[in-house]
This record gives sequence, structure tokens and C-alpha cells, in this order.
Amino acid sequence: MSAPRFLSPATPYLATTYTAAPSRYDQIPFRRAGRSGLLLPCISLGLWQNFGEADPIANSRSVLRRSFDLGITHFDLANNYGPPYGAAEKTFGEIFKTDFCAYRDEMVISTKAGFDMWPGPYGEWGSRKYLIASLDQSLSRMGLDYVDIFYSHRPDPETPLEETMGALDHLVRQGKALYVGISNYSPEQTQEASRILRSMGTPCLLHQPRYNMFDRHIEEGLLDILRAEGIGCIAFSPLAQGLLTERYLEGIPSNSRAGKAGRFLKPENVTEEVLGKVRKLAAIARQRGQSLAQLAVTWILSQPQVTSVIIGASCPSQVEELQAGLSFPPLAENELQAIDHCLK
Ligand SMILES: NC(=O)c1ccc[n+]([C@@H]2O[C@H](COP(=O)([O-])OP(=O)(O)OC[C@H]3O[C@@H](n4cnc5c(N)ncnc54)[C@H](OP(=O)(O)O)[C@@H]3O)[C@@H](O)[C@H]2O)c1
Repeated sequence: MSAPRFLSPATPYLATTYTAAPSRYDQIPFRRAGRSGLLLPCISLGLWQNFGEADPIANSRSVLRRSFDLGITHFDLANNYGPPYGAAEKTFGEIFKTDFCAYRDEMVISTKAGFDMWPGPYGEWGSRKYLIASLDQSLSRMGLDYVDIFYSHRPDPETPLEETMGALDHLVRQGKALYVGISNYSPEQTQEASRILRSMGTPCLLHQPRYNMFDRHIEEGLLDILRAEGIGCIAFSPLAQGLLTERYLEGIPSNSRAGKAGRFLKPENVTEEVLGKVRKLAAIARQRGQSLAQLAVTWILSQPQVTSVIIGASCPSQVEELQAGLSFPPLAENELQAIDHCLK
């Protein structure tokens, strides 16, 4: 019989064998999240992919340990990360218990609710009923008393925004979340959400949108609103799920996200048009002595409103490469223009 993947509640507490690297705070710059007291590392780690039930837990543990040793204090989850839904929070909780519980006050852990999580009308979107139940479930899966940041994962066109924001405010007052944020909201929805939250005394800390060289929609309005409202921007999919790297230049590796042909990045997304842009961008990166993945992160961080980029990683060396890229100089105006030219 194979060993159970997760410890049962009866399993005795495992003493940690992990001691964080003493040099961890010399490795990465921190930026302030909007007009708040919270500083975040300019690279954060997301657990959307690679932390599901079928992913080897030893690799998940290595990625988390290496990240924390490199000064990455912020870990981003959501109720439905897996697969199956909930599995990434369970994996994180399992590793937290053995490796990181002594470091809880050095970690910023976020989760979200908004997408479909359980059957029926109370298992998705933005009702008070769903958000409050979902955070309770997330805390139980992760074995935490509170999260640092709780997000409304997507706007709900049918629920009054006052109700969704009221649920976030309630969870902060209950002590189950320290800060709140929103994700995938339009500029207008963001402005309104921010107004409501401020009126309740729970300001919106962060907006989490997709932002990378291939998807610049937030430059049309959202970034200006975030600046005016004092909300930090934390960008997801900075590498366009791996397309903005050299990973696909010689074909589609079977162990890559596109090669595994999951729901979110498919072989047909690796088009000749994409690869043509990638080759040109990789040439700019080479001139700077960087990899394309490193350039993609440097480019996002050149936006002052960006607090952090949330990377995904299938192995520790990907995190190392991106962290190492932070020591390169910022992009000069002529380099930014050359990148714009490649993206046309
Ligand atoms: N709020 C939302 O709606 C939302 C939506 C999506 C994501 N997110 C958050 O954002 C996080 C990151 O999203 P993402 O995983 O799409 O980010 P990403 O950084 O754009 O893509 C990560 C993938 O790129 C590849 N990669 C990473 N470093 C590499 C390197 N140095 N060289 C070559 N390839 C590299 C790996 O893919 P391989 O598997 O091919 O190695 C890795 O899994 C998520 O975990 C989640 O926390 C939020």
C-alpha cells in the first residue's frame, strides 16, 4: 500500500528539518503595497500550478524552501488551485506544518474566492454566503488561524458590490484576514470597490491583474486608478505562463505547461507569431546579459505602481533564475522602446 499523501489529523507533529537561510533578507528588494504599511518582495510565488494532488510533494517542498531562502516571503493561493480544487492549499498546509510554522510572522499568505469551488449556488461568485464559508474552508485546509490577504477573485455581475466588499470587511473584523484585495476587476469596478472599502475602514490593499509583455490591458486606465486610490498592483502570469521564456523555442517539451496540455496553456497557444516575438525579445535580453524570463520580470517591475510579480515555478532553479535577474539594471528608455517595437 502506498503511503498517504497527506498526514491524517492523527499523525503526530513532525519536527521541522528546515532552517531558513540566514541570508534570506539580503536577496531581494521589497516594495510597499500601495499606501499601506505592508512591504512585499518584488517577486512572490504563486501556487496555482505545480502544487496539485498529482505533483510530487518533495518538489513542492523544494520550491517553497528555495523561495523562502531567497527572500520570497509572499505565497499566493486560491481556494480552487489544484487540481483538484483545494489541493494546493492542502499541500501548502502540509508543508507549512512541518517546515514553516516557526516562520509564520515572516510570511504573507494570501488566498481568494470567486471562481467555482463547490456545487450549487453558494459555491462561486461574490455573495457573503460564499466568501465567508470559503475562507473558513481555506483556513482549515492550510491549518492557519488567519491569512494575510483575502481577495475577491473576480467581480460578480449579479451581487451588489456592497455585499462582496462587506464580506471582505467582515472577515478582517473577525481576524481571519489582515488585508483585503480584488482580482480581475475592471477600472470602474476597482474605483467603486475602493470607495466602498474605504468607507468601511478597510482599504483595498492590492489589485491582482494579469500583466505581462503580451497582455498590457491594465495600462489602459487601471494603473492610473490604482495610483490615485493608493492600491498596489501585484501582477500575475508575468511570463505569460511560460511563453515569455526560451522554453518553447526548440519545440514543446513534454514536461512543460503547454506540453502537459492542461486547461490553461495548450500546444496551440505556442504559435509562430508568438515564437517570432519571443525570438526578438530574447535577442534584447541577450544584449543585456539576461534570459528572456528575467527580462520579462524586469520589464513589469519598471512600472512604479507594481508592488510585486507573482511567478509560478515547476522547479527551484526557475525561482533562482528569476531572483538572480533582479540584480540587472533597470531598463533604459531606448530598451523599453525596442521592446514595444518587438511587441507590435
Ligand atoms: N488572480 C487570478 O485570477 C490569477 C490567475 C492566474 C494566476 N494567478 C497567480 O499568479 C501565479 C503565477 O501564474 P503563472 O504560473 O501563470 O505565472 P508565470 O510566471 O507566467 O508562469 C509560470 C510558468 O512558467 C514557466 N517558467 C517559470 N520560470 C521559468 C524560467 N526561469 N524559465 C523557463 N520557464 C519558466 C514554468 O512552466 P513549466 O511548467 O513549463 O516549467 C512555470 O510554471 C499563480 O500561481 C497564481 O498565484 C492568479
